[in-house]
Amino acid sequence: MRHLAIIGGGSWGTALAIVLAPRFERVRLWVYEPDLVERMRARGENDVYLPGFRIPDNVDVHNELGDALRDVEVVLGVMPSHLARPLYRQMAPHLSPAIGLVSATKGLEIGTLRRVSAVISEVIGPRFPPRVAVMSGPTFAREVARGDPTALVVASLDHEFAQTVQSAFSGPTFRLYTSLDPVGVEVGGAVKNVVAIGAGVCHGLGFGSNAMAALITRGLAEISRLALAMGGHPRTLAGLAGLGDLVLTCTGELSRNRTVGLELAKGRGLEEIVSSMRMVAEGIKTTSATVDLARQYRVEMPIAEQMHAMLHLGRPPREAIRQLMDRALKGE
Ligand SMILES: NC(=O)c1ccc[n+]([C@@H]2O[C@H](COP(=O)([O-])OP(=O)(O)OC[C@H]3O[C@@H](n4cnc5c(N)ncnc54)[C@H](O)[C@@H]3O)[C@@H](O)[C@H]2O)c1
Repeated sequence: MRHLAIIGGGSWGTALAIVLAPRFERVRLWVYEPDLVERMRARGENDVYLPGFRIPDNVDVHNELGDALRDVEVVLGVMPSHLARPLYRQMAPHLSPAIGLVSATKGLEIGTLRRVSAVISEVIGPRFPPRVAVMSGPTFAREVARGDPTALVVASLDHEFAQTVQSAFSGPTFRLYTSLDPVGVEVGGAVKNVVAIGAGVCHGLGFGSNAMAALITRGLAEISRLALAMGGHPRTLAGLAGLGDLVLTCTGELSRNRTVGLELAKGRGLEEIVSSMRMVAEGIKTTSATVDLARQYRVEMPIAEQMHAMLHLGRPPREAIRQLMDRALKGE
């Protein structure tokens, strides 16, 4: 593969452009904001979403989807989940059946409760059956951009396509493992953001390592229950896109979802917190979708239920934690 399009020039799309540029002849990065496109072209830096990192010379920054998608073999979608459907709809007329689609978005579609790869198949399917993979794992954008060793998973029902992406994307600091389980990878990547809000709450309330370890472990148990009910594989949830990403988001200082929980624990309101953040915290929207999915699949997800009550029903953080501890006693 010689040409790659990255759709979405936020923190993650920009970091991916930086780490993948040496692997391709040309990378076309589609950026939504016209003024940011101009500045990125002029200064070679994304001063809004990933300041301090130079955009490599073989990365072209575009504002028109048609320009970004011209003559590319693979498209990497890195938009926030609530923008996936409209953006793939706009992309559809520019895509040919030979193009492979890789989704790096983490989240679930509100309302339909679809995984992003299912949204892609639904939108592109009427034109041609798309080759789709999902890419996920423990990855903070800044650490990838500065070249820290990073490992992640690329999952597809089409194993050959996953292997093609693996060999095209892997490099000295970026190591991909293949998987045949997009359901487990996408559910792990989306729902860990819900648990991360809880991690922020625990930290903000001053609880120590016991509470954090319990939250991560019981969080993984409920993520796994949901993923398995949806057809995912237990091994995936013990891997990079499950446990790996959950540990990162719950313990890492760079986690936005954890920051949301931390601020809630300080007594700030959700609207105030969101309006002070320029970047997306996927966990807020994903919490509602997760609770709806848990009901649909009849799976118990007490942490997600409490996060939902805290975010959307005004339950105080300390009361949410108390209710988790007061649940009926049970076996592990
Ligand atoms: N940041 C990370 O470290 C990281 C790592 C792995 C996965 N992800 C996932 O990648 C996805 C993108 O996250 P991010 O961190 O790059 O986001 P971000 O908050 O840094 O950027 C938001 C993005 O949304 C775009 N945008 C805003 N309004 C838009 C509109 N109306 N139409 C089209 N685009 C619009 C912006 O241009 C920007 O690209 C999310 O699903 C996130 O969970 C992020």
